[in-house]
Amino acid sequence: MEELKSDCSVLVFFVNGKKIVDNQVDPEWTLLFYLRNKLGLCGTKLGCGEGGCGACTVMLSKYDRINKKIRHLPINACLAPVCSMHGLAVTTVEGIGSTRTKLHPVQERIAKSHGTQCGFCTPGIVMSMYTLLRNSPKPTMKDLEVTFQGNLCRCTGYRPIMEGYKTFTEEWELIQNGNRLNGEQGNGCAMGDKCCKLQNGTTKDPEEVLFNRNEFTPYDSSQEPIFPPELKISDQYDKQYLVIKGKTVTWFRPVNLEQLLQLKKQFPDAKLVVGNTEVGVEVKFKQMVYPVIIQPVLIPEMVAITNTEKGVRIGASATFTDIETYLKNEINRLPEEKTRIFKSVVDMLNWFAGKQIRSVGALGSNIMTGSPISDMLPILMANEVTLELQSRDNGKREVILDGNFFTGYRTTIVKPEEILSAIYIPYTNSDRYCYAYKQARRREDDIAIVNAAVNVTFEPKTDIISDINVAFGGMSYKTVTSPKTRQLKGLPWNRQTLELAFAHLQEDLPLDPGAPGGMYLYRKSLTLSLFFKAFLAISADLQKYVPHINIDKRELSGITSFEPKEYKSAQYFTVVPKTQEKSDALQRPIVHISAYKHATGEAVYCDDIPLYENELYLAFVTSTKSHAKILSVDPSEALAMDGVDYFVSAKDVAEGKNFTNFMHRDEKIFYDDIVTSQGQIIGGILATDQIIARKAARKVKIEYEDLQPVIITIDDAIKHNSYFKNPDRMVVKGDVEKVFQEAPHVLEGECHIGGQEHFYLETQSVFVVPKKEDEEIEVYSATQGPTQLAETLAPVLGIQLNKIAVKTKRLGGGFGGKELKAVRIALPAAIAAMKLNRPVRCMLDREEDTVMTGGRHPFYIKYKVAFNNDGKILGAHVKYYNNCGYSIDVSSLVLGHAMTHSQNAYDIPVVRLEGYTCKTNLPSNTAFRGFGCPQAMFAAETMLQHIADYLKKDPVKLSELNLYKEGDVTFYNQKLVNCTMQKCWKECLQSSKYFERRQQVDNFNRENRYKKRGLSVIPTTYGIGFPVPFLNQAGALVLVYTDGSVLLSHGGVEMGQGLHTKMIQVASRCLEIPVEKIHTVDVSTDKVPNTTMTAGSVGSDLNGMAVMRACNTIKERLKPYKDANPKGTWEEWVKKAYFDRVSLSTTGYFGESDYGYNWETGEGQMHNYFSYGAACCEVEIDTLTGDHQVRSVEIVMDVGESLNPGIDVGQIEGAFMQGYGLFVLEELVYSPSGTNYTRGPGTYKLPGFGNIPGEFNVSMLKGSSNPRAVYSSKAIGEPPLFLGSSVVFAIKDAIKAARKENGYDPTDFKLYSPATSARIRVACQDNITSKFEEPELGTYVPWNVLV
Ligand SMILES: Cc1cc2nc3c(=O)[nH]c(=O)nc-3n(C[C@H](O)[C@H](O)[C@H](O)COP(=O)(O)OP(=O)(O)OC[C@H]3O[C@@H](n4cnc5c(N)ncnc54)[C@H](O)[C@@H]3O)c2cc1C
Ligand code: FES
Ligand code: FES
Repeated sequence: MEELKSDCSVLVFFVNGKKIVDNQVDPEWTLLFYLRNKLGLCGTKLGCGEGGCGACTVMLSKYDRINKKIRHLPINACLAPVCSMHGLAVTTVEGIGSTRTKLHPVQERIAKSHGTQCGFCTPGIVMSMYTLLRNSPKPTMKDLEVTFQGNLCRCTGYRPIMEGYKTFTEEWELIQNGNRLNGEQGNGCAMGDKCCKLQNGTTKDPEEVLFNRNEFTPYDSSQEPIFPPELKISDQYDKQYLVIKGKTVTWFRPVNLEQLLQLKKQFPDAKLVVGNTEVGVEVKFKQMVYPVIIQPVLIPEMVAITNTEKGVRIGASATFTDIETYLKNEINRLPEEKTRIFKSVVDMLNWFAGKQIRSVGALGSNIMTGSPISDMLPILMANEVTLELQSRDNGKREVILDGNFFTGYRTTIVKPEEILSAIYIPYTNSDRYCYAYKQARRREDDIAIVNAAVNVTFEPKTDIISDINVAFGGMSYKTVTSPKTRQLKGLPWNRQTLELAFAHLQEDLPLDPGAPGGMYLYRKSLTLSLFFKAFLAISADLQKYVPHINIDKRELSGITSFEPKEYKSAQYFTVVPKTQEKSDALQRPIVHISAYKHATGEAVYCDDIPLYENELYLAFVTSTKSHAKILSVDPSEALAMDGVDYFVSAKDVAEGKNFTNFMHRDEKIFYDDIVTSQGQIIGGILATDQIIARKAARKVKIEYEDLQPVIITIDDAIKHNSYFKNPDRMVVKGDVEKVFQEAPHVLEGECHIGGQEHFYLETQSVFVVPKKEDEEIEVYSATQGPTQLAETLAPVLGIQLNKIAVKTKRLGGGFGGKELKAVRIALPAAIAAMKLNRPVRCMLDREEDTVMTGGRHPFYIKYKVAFNNDGKILGAHVKYYNNCGYSIDVSSLVLGHAMTHSQNAYDIPVVRLEGYTCKTNLPSNTAFRGFGCPQAMFAAETMLQHIADYLKKDPVKLSELNLYKEGDVTFYNQKLVNCTMQKCWKECLQSSKYFERRQQVDNFNRENRYKKRGLSVIPTTYGIGFPVPFLNQAGALVLVYTDGSVLLSHGGVEMGQGLHTKMIQVASRCLEIPVEKIHTVDVSTDKVPNTTMTAGSVGSDLNGMAVMRACNTIKERLKPYKDANPKGTWEEWVKKAYFDRVSLSTTGYFGESDYGYNWETGEGQMHNYFSYGAACCEVEIDTLTGDHQVRSVEIVMDVGESLNPGIDVGQIEGAFMQGYGLFVLEELVYSPSGTNYTRGPGTYKLPGFGNIPGEFNVSMLKGSSNPRAVYSSKAIGEPPLFLGSSVVFAIKDAIKAARKENGYDPTDFKLYSPATSARIRVACQDNITSKFEEPELGTYVPWNVLV
C-alpha cells in the first residue's frame, strides 16, 4: 500500500461530554463495542447487532457549519464504526441522568408509567425519545410514532411507554392548558372528564390511576448538557484527512473529492461506507472482509442537496433524514404537480427502516447496494432518474437508472474505479403521476416482500397515456421494469387498459415457484394488486380533467391508508381501601423496583459484569448440517491466530458425562460423531475478546458426510413415523365413537400453528469464574433456573453442589427460553473455565441464539367434533402433533399441557385426545410462555368457529352456549370452583359494546370495497400450577440488619415480570414496613437452595408464600418488642431484639400443595386453580395487500386480587402482544433442509410500536378473589397470551366479508397461524388471485416448508 499522506491517525471524539483520544483504535470495532468494552459504558445494550432492535441507540451530535446549528441524530451503536465518530459527540443513556444524581424526565417518565419490565430495551427507547426532545422539545404524537419505528420491546406491549411519553407532546400540553383554563373538571374537550385522552389521566383520583402524571418533573430543554464547545468553535476535525490502520482494515476519511477519487483509483475494491447499514451487516453476517474502507461524508459535493433547473441534485452520501427534510420543504414550497416523485420518496421513507438507520444511511448507498428489495430503486427506476458517476481519470459521466443499470445480482455498470457522486430527481408536471407502494410482513421497519412504483404521463389534460414506466422490487434478483407495459402508450386509462396491463405484468414478472423468498401466489398477486392501487389513485386524480373517469366511492378504500391511531387506553383495577396503611405497599401499582435503573442503564445484566483481568471469551462452533456424520474437526488455523487460547470440545469432558440432560441423555454438550440439527455445539474457541473469538471460530474446519433422512416438518415426521413415543399421550373420557354415531352433526378439520422465537432482548449469556480454592466456582447466568443449572453442572464438572454458586441478578426477558436452554452455553463455558482455570464469558449473538436454542413448538392438530343443532359440542376426537426438534427437552410436558387445554374455555363432555411428539432435525424446541396451551386453544377456537360457520351462527353465540361455568368438570375430572369465565365474558361483551360494534363493522364493510373490518371475542381458561407435586415448593431467606434494613432473598428469578417487586410488597405487608427498607440483590444458590425453576406463571404464588412465612417468623420474634413499645419504630424494635440476642434472620419454606396429576391413571388434581379472561378485538384489513391494523382491543382478566395492578396490567398487555405476534406476525421460515431463514429482527418480525392497538383497554375483574394463592392473587404471566388470538379471529371475520364481496364462499378457506399478510391476501380470493395458481407440490423444490 503506497504511503498516503494523512492529517490525522488518532481518533478523537466525545462521549457524554468527555473527550476521547485514542491512537490504538481498530477500524473493525463498532461504537457499541467501544462503549461497552473500552469505556465500560454498559447502559447501551446489544440486542441484535444488525440495526433491528434499537437496544443500542445512542445520540450522535454534530455541528452543522452551513446552517450553524447543532444536529442530534439517533443512531445504532451496533452498526456505527467507531472510526466514523471522529470529531463528533456521542451521548449514551449514562450521560443524561442517573439515580445517583438526577433522572432525566425521559428516564423518569418511562419508569413511572410502568414502561419497563425486563428493562433491556429501555436505554435504547430512552435515547430515541431523548434525541427527539433535543430536536423538538414539543413533539407531536406523529413524531413519537416515527421516533420509535426502530425500537423493539418484547415485554411491555408498548402501550405504557407511549402513555408516559405522550406527556411530552404538543397534544398533551393543549389538553393540560385546557384543563387549567376550564378549571378542575375542564379539559378543553366537550366530553369533559370522559375525554378519551384523559383516561388514566389527571381527573381521576390519584389512587385510581396506575401513575400520576402530575408528579412528573417538568421538562426544561434549557437544562440539557451543552455540545462540546471545542467541536463547535473549531472545524479542525472536519478538515482532517483521517487514516486509521488496523490489523486487517484501514479506514480513510478523505475531505475532498480529489482525495476520494484518488483513493478509489488506488483501491478499486475499496468499500465506500456512509452509514455502514449495509456493509456492517455484510461483515457481521456474511463474514465479508473489506480491507479498505473509505468514508465519504465530509466531501461537500457528496452530501449536498441542491436545486437544479430540472429538479433536485442529491449528493450520493446525503442521508435519508436530510433528504426527507429537504424534499418535504420542496413539497411545501412548490406546486403539487412538480413534486410528485419527491412525495413518493418521502412517503416511502416513512416505511423505510427506523429513524436510526435513516439518520445515517444514504441514498447513493442504497442504489449501489442494488438490493432486489431496495425501497428506493423502484421509484428511481420507474422515473428513470439520472446518476452522476465520477472517476479520477475519466471525470464525470451521467447514466440513466433504468433496467440496464444492474448487470446481475448486486452488480452494476459502474466501474470499479468510479464512484456515484449524485442522483438527479426531476420535477414532474401536471400530467405526470407517480405512485409507489411497499408491502412487508410488518408495516414499520421491515424489508419489502414486493414493492412497486408506477410512473404515468398523459397527453395534456386527457386520459390518454403518453408514457408509462413501472418498476418492481422483490420479483427477481434485481429491481425490474416491465417493458411490455410501455406498449400501453396511446391507450386510454380505463378498465380494458388495466386488464391489458395485468397481462403485460404477468408476462414481464415471472416468478419461479421455488424462488428465494417463497410466497409465490402472494408475490404474483401483489404485483397486480399494487398496480391496481396505482390505477385507482391515478383514476381519482384524473377525474379533475376527465370527468368520465368514474370510480365508485367504495373503491376509494383501495387507495386510502388505515385511519391514524388515537392511542386511547384505559386500565381498570381495584383500588386499595383508604384505610390501608401508607407503608403497606401490597396491591398498590408501585413501579418495578429496578425501573429507574433500567431507564438509566445502571441495571446490570449478565454481560454487563465488569471485565476480569484474565478472562477469556467463548465463541461456539456449531453444526451447519441438519443430519450428518462429522468426519473431521480441524481448529489448527483458528488456534494459530493471535489472541486465541484454546479449542474446547468433547475431548474435554469426562467419559460418559457428555450430556446436557441426564434424564433423557438425548442432548450432548459437544457433538463429536453425528449431528442431528443445525446449531448443535461441536466446540468452542476461547480467545482474549469477543471479536477474535468469533473470527477464529469461523476458521475451524469441519468436514461432514450428509446422512438421510432429513426430517424437518411434522408431515415428514408422520411419514417416517418419527416420534419420541407413539403416542406420547392419550386421554379418553366417555365413548367418543358412540357420540359421533348419534350426534346430529359431525365435522372434521385441521389447523397448523407455527412456532415462535422467544426473542428475549437479552440473548443467552453466562460468565463463569473459577475460584482459587476447593474447586469452587461462581456462575453468573441469565437463567430461569439457577438450581437446575447447578445440578446440571455438578456431575459434568465432578464437583458437589455446595461448591457451585449460580447467581442470577436479572434477565432481559426469558419467556421460558432460559429454563433448560441456559445450560447449553453454561456447560461448555464452565468446562473451559475449569480446564483453563480462567474466567470465561459468553453471550450468544442473536443469530446464534435463534439457531441454537429452539423456541415454541409448531403444532399440527386434526379434529373431529360432534354437536347438536344449537351448536352445543357433544364430543371431540383431537390429534396433536408437535414438532419437538432433535431432542425431547420438555416437549412431552408441553404436549401434555397443551392437551389439558384442548377445550380452551368450553365444556366438552366426551373426548379422545392423542398426542404425538415428533422427532425432527430442527433445533430442539422448548418451553415458551403458555407451554403449548395457546396452540391447543387455537385449535379449540378453530373448531368452535368451524361449527359456527357450518350452522351460520355468530361465533359469539356459540361460545356462550359452550362456555365453562361454575361446577363444570373438565375431562381430567377437575371441578371448576370460583369459575369467573362467564363473568369475564359478559363484562367483555358489555365494555366492548360488541353488538353495537358488530353493526358498525357491517356498515363499514358495506361501504368499503377493498378494506374490510372484522370482530371477534375470545375466552380463555388457563390452569395454574405444576401437576408434578415436587415442583410446587419454594424457599426464602430474610435477613434483618441492625439499622432496620431487610435483605430479602427467594428462589424466583426476576425476568421483567416484576417478581422481586411483588415479593418486596408481600414482605412490606407482613413486616409492616415501607418497601424502601427492603432490598433484593439476586437469586443465588448459595442463599436459597433447591429452588424450583421460575416458570409456569407461579413465581409469585410459590415464592410469595415462602416470603410470607419467613417474614411472619421475623414478625413473631419482634412482637414482644412491639407490644412493649407500641409507639416505637421498626428500627427500635429491631435494635432492641438484637441486644436481646434474638435471631434476626430466618428462612421460609412453602411446599404443601394438595394437587398433582397422574397421567397414567388419570387420578389427582391437575391444576391448583384457573385464571379466566376474555378479549374483544376489532381489526381492519386491506384486501388487496393483506395488510392489517388492530383498531381496538378490550380485555377483561381475572387476576384475583392483584398484588400490583401496575405490573399486572403490564403482564396482560405484554402477553397479549406476544400472542398477537405468535398468531399474526411472527413467522419462522425454514428451508426444506432445515436452515432457518429468520435469524434476527431483519427477517423475523415481532410486533413493534406501530402494532399497538388503536384503543387498548384492560380491566381486571373486580370482586374476584383466590383462596389458593398468596394474598388472594392469581398467576398472570401466561394466561392472557392466548387472548392475542382474538386478532387472528377478527382477521378471519374480515376475510369472510371480503370473500363474500368477491363472490366466493365466505367460509371455505383455511387460515393457518401466523395469519401473515401473505395468508390474509391469498384468503381474500378475488379476480387478481384467480389469475394465478399455486404450483403443484412435487413439481418444484420449494424455498421454504411448513414445519
Ligand atoms: C435494520 C435495517 C433496516 C433496513 N431497512 C431498509 C428498508 O426498509 N428499505 C431499504 O431499501 N433498505 C433498508 N435497509 C438497507 C440499508 O439501510 C440501505 O440500503 C441504506 O441505503 C444503506 O446506506 P448506508 O449508507 O448505510 O450503506 P453503507 O453500508 O455505508 O454502504 C452500502 C454500499 O454502497 C456502496 N456505496 C456507498 N456510497 C457509494 C458511492 N458514492 N459510490 C459507490 N458506491 C457507494 C458501498 O461501497 C457499499 O457497498 C435496512 C438496513 C438495516 C440494517
Ligand atoms: S443491537 Fe443495535 S439495533 Fe439491535
Ligand atoms: S422491557 Fe422491553 S424488552 Fe423487556
